Amino acid sequence: TKISASLIDPDGGRLVELFVRESEKDSKLKQAMGLPQIKLSKIDLQWVHVLSEGWASPLKGFMRESEFLQTLHFNSLRLNDGSVVNMSVAIVLAIDDVQKGRIGSSTSVALVDQNDNLVAILNDIEIYKHNKEERIARTWGTTAPGLPYVEEAISAAGNWLIGGDLEVIEPIKYNDGLDHFRLSPSQLRDEFVRRNADAVFAFQLRNPVHNGHALLMTDTRSRLLEMGYKNPVLLLHPLGGYTKADDVPLCWRMKQHEKVLEDGILDPETTVVSIFPSPMHYAGPTEVQWHAKARINAGANFYIVGRDPAGMSHPLEKRDLYDADHGKMVLSMAPGLERLNILPFKVAAYDKTQGKMAFFDPSRTKDFLFISGTKMRTLAKNGENPPDGFMCPGGWKVLVDYYDSLALS
Ligand code: ADX
Repeated sequence: TKISASLIDPDGGRLVELFVRESEKDSKLKQAMGLPQIKLSKIDLQWVHVLSEGWASPLKGFMRESEFLQTLHFNSLRLNDGSVVNMSVAIVLAIDDVQKGRIGSSTSVALVDQNDNLVAILNDIEIYKHNKEERIARTWGTTAPGLPYVEEAISAAGNWLIGGDLEVIEPIKYNDGLDHFRLSPSQLRDEFVRRNADAVFAFQLRNPVHNGHALLMTDTRSRLLEMGYKNPVLLLHPLGGYTKADDVPLCWRMKQHEKVLEDGILDPETTVVSIFPSPMHYAGPTEVQWHAKARINAGANFYIVGRDPAGMSHPLEKRDLYDADHGKMVLSMAPGLERLNILPFKVAAYDKTQGKMAFFDPSRTKDFLFISGTKMRTLAKNGENPPDGFMCPGGWKVLVDYYDSLALS
C-alpha cells in the first residue's frame, strides 16, 4: 500500500493540463493559420508555461475580466460549486490598440513566440481594459516607480487584456540545459508517489541557499518526523522565470543548489530539486500566496515561509517595501489556502557565539550578524569570504565564479 495516495488534491479537485492531444495537433496547426496572431514576450511565454501545466489550476487560460477582478479584490476565485481557491496575482495577457483592431470579431487568436512559431491558441476570448495603475496599486500596494516586474512587463504593455481558454501545442522548453529540472505538477506528483512521500514540504526561493535557509528546511523535516510522518520529502523549488537584474541568474543558482546537496547541507535522498517556471513579481504578501498555492497543485501539503518572502527594498526609500512579518501572517490567513499547512519561521541570522546560522534571539541582539542580499553580493563580487558557517564553501565558490564571470564580460 502506498501512503502517498494521500497527496493533497489540486485546487478545484483536478489538475488542469492544457496541451493539445497528439491526434489533434495537425488540425490545430491548420486552424491557427487562419487566426489573428499575438506575439508573446518572454514573460508572457513563462505564463503560458505556468498555465499549461496546471500550476494555476483550476485556471484554464489567461484571466477574463471576472477572474481578474476577483484576483485583484479578493486574492481568490470562487468556483461554480461555491468553493474558493486562492489566486493572488493576475495572470493576464496585454495587447495594444493595433492588436485589438486586428483581432476584430475573431473569437480565437493564435499565440506565437518571438520567432513566430505557434505556441498556443486562445479560445472564446474576452477583451477588456487594462487599468495598469489599479492593477499595480492593488498588487504591490504602491505605484512607486522602479518596481521590477512593473517596469519589465506592465508599464509599456498594451491598454487591453485578452482572456480565454488556452490550448497549448507543445510543452514549453527553454533549451538552456535546465529543462530536465522543470518538472510539471503532474511529474512532481509522480515523483513524490515514487518516493513514497507521506508529507511534502515546499521551499520557494529565488536566491542562493545559505545555511539560514537550510536551517528552515532541516528544522521542518525534524518537526514533521516528530509529528509522526515517516517519509517527509522536501521540494526545493527555485523560481525559474523572470527575476530582477541584480538577482543571481537561474543557471548559477542551480549550480549553487547542486553544491549545497553535494556538500551535505541538504540530503539528496529526501530532496527533490526542481524549477518553478513562474516569473517573479516582488509583491511580498500578495505574491507569497501565489507561491504557496502553486505548490498545492504540485502536491505539497506543507509550505515553509520565513522573513520577508517575495520582498525587496522600496524602490525609492531606504527600507524594505513590505513588513518582514506580513508575508507569513497573510499566508496563515489567506482565502483558499486553508488546506495547506503553513510553517512560519523566525528570521535566521549569523550567531557569532556559535559560528553558525541560527534563529535570531532578540534578547542578545549584539551576538547576531545580519548578512543581507546586498552584503552577500558585495562580498562575493570582491572575492571575499563570508564568516565560516554562513554558506558551504562549494556553494560560495559558485557565487564568486558568477561575479568573476560578470567582471570579465
Ligand atoms: S523569495 O523571494 O523566494 O521569498 P528568498 O529566496 O530570499 O526570496 O527566500 C526564500 C525563503 O526563505 C522565503 O520563505 C523567505 O521568507 C525565507 N528567508 C530568506 N532569508 C531568511 C532569513 N534570513 N531568515 C528566515 N527566513 C528567510
